[in-house]
Amino acid sequence: MIDYKEKIALIIGKSMSLDSNEIKSFIEVPTNTEMGDYAFPCFRLAKELKKAPPIIAKEIKEHLDELSNVEEMSLFDKYEVVGGYLNFFVDKYSYIKDVINEALDKGEDFGKNTKGDGKTVVIDYSSPNIAKALHIGHLRSTVIGNSIYKLNEFNGYKVVGVNHLGDWGMGICRTIAGYLLWKDEYDFSNDPIKPILEIYVRYNRIEKDDPDFKSHAVEALKRLEAGDEEIVKIWKWIVDLTIENNKKVYGLLGCKFDSYNGEAFYNDKMDRVINELNAKGLLVESEGAKVVMMDEDIPPCMILTSQGTTIYATRDLAALLYRIDTYNFDKCLYVVAAEQTLHFKQVFETLSKMGYEEYAKRCEHIPFGLVLDSDGQKMGSRKGNATTLEELFKESIDKSLKIIEDKNPDLENKEDVAKMVGVGAVVFNDLANSRIKDEVFDWNQILNFNGETGPYLQYTYVRTRSILRNIEKMPENADFSKINNKEGYEVTRLIGSFGDIISSACDKNEPSILSRYLLDLAKAFSRFYNEHHIICDDKDVQDANVLLTFVTGNVIKKGLMLLGISCPEKM
Ligand code: ARG
Repeated sequence: MIDYKEKIALIIGKSMSLDSNEIKSFIEVPTNTEMGDYAFPCFRLAKELKKAPPIIAKEIKEHLDELSNVEEMSLFDKYEVVGGYLNFFVDKYSYIKDVINEALDKGEDFGKNTKGDGKTVVIDYSSPNIAKALHIGHLRSTVIGNSIYKLNEFNGYKVVGVNHLGDWGMGICRTIAGYLLWKDEYDFSNDPIKPILEIYVRYNRIEKDDPDFKSHAVEALKRLEAGDEEIVKIWKWIVDLTIENNKKVYGLLGCKFDSYNGEAFYNDKMDRVINELNAKGLLVESEGAKVVMMDEDIPPCMILTSQGTTIYATRDLAALLYRIDTYNFDKCLYVVAAEQTLHFKQVFETLSKMGYEEYAKRCEHIPFGLVLDSDGQKMGSRKGNATTLEELFKESIDKSLKIIEDKNPDLENKEDVAKMVGVGAVVFNDLANSRIKDEVFDWNQILNFNGETGPYLQYTYVRTRSILRNIEKMPENADFSKINNKEGYEVTRLIGSFGDIISSACDKNEPSILSRYLLDLAKAFSRFYNEHHIICDDKDVQDANVLLTFVTGNVIKKGLMLLGISCPEKM
């Protein structure tokens, strides 16, 4: 695609002794398109040139007036001085032609970036504690992580998705202890995950009223850590069952994990952490425990408890050393709730002190806010709310099916469409706002086909496709000067910025940049659609409109895919 900033820098460079890269870095994109497509602000030059910005802008303009023989000038309709800015209006015809042709040529790869080529990113996401079902508390990490995975992949990175399971310690040992106590009361012959999950709940309920009951789990943990054969076998069985069960939800979401190495995987890799910390003299005694002191005003990072056992942070350090050796990562991202901010600060600082400063700098915690219900209560904390993600998605799919049956009873593959709509609705709601904000979970909003929702975007895509079904043959090319209206130009401008959006959503680990963009694009397309007849008597106009409609649909579909949302062809 034409790099307009570069072209502007080039022509301005003909009249100023400024480096063209520097000029390029000054150029802005005005939010108000009345002010042009690009603006060159002259404020920063005022001091150096000892002139007022509007004078500088005027002088540059006068120089440009003399450049009519320069080829690049034809890319612009006009340029004008507004205050201290020189504003450029691109020639809409060349712009539209350039963008649509690029989108058609590149197809699936339109907007793709190569900045990640040859680089590896590890994304630690979802990472539930094992022995219970995925619940609402796992929604955000899973959904945000999944989109960040896809965004990185599309930006050229080699991605390693890691599900750092909490598969060791008291949690799973409560289930093991309960199993030992009550296994005869349950039937494990088919769908054994059900009784396993029940046992977990039952054990916790008893322990809540009778704290001494904990001793069973403590005993199980002791045996597990000692490598007791019977217990290790039960442990493995439960881990595998829960992973299998979680995969039902991952399947619905299209989540990919390249590794399920959880905390247990690092049991034999913790000595190295202790040894390296000792070798650097970093471990200090504190109330019987071993800790690493932090520089900042934050509590020390505990490495060994007073009983001499390793903890969560120790395992994360072992995991980091392993990830450095195995993946030599360029980025290591942790998509984990904001509650764990301190933990990750401590872990990254400890890694740095151990002598891995470079890798520590490449680590980043990607925090996010809570999920609240429509009354502002933490979701899942109230009775009656779906508790597991499996139930939550089932509810969403059922509700979507009802809506579809209402709106379009003759639709084929209703079940498949309901799945895409139901899942997409929940996912989009999670990604619609900057991740650090709390998310409000309100069924009425989430499934509103006219709101700022997943179904609205899917519906817009479906509409682009149904328009195209009205024509006999897709045009191969068109005269894009026929799209000589504001609405069509707005749509094209958004399409033209798709690559930048993808790139910045990836750099900032912020899928909401893409979600907001898709809403803008869908709204711009609706305005175009409402104001103009896409299918019309003038074949040339129609061809141009049809190709614009086609690439708009493609971008919406691709964008949704990068958020982890599938698109039906009809709905
Ligand atoms: N299992 C942890 C939890 O449920 C999250 C793990 C996040 N990843 C990590 N490497 N610490 O809170």
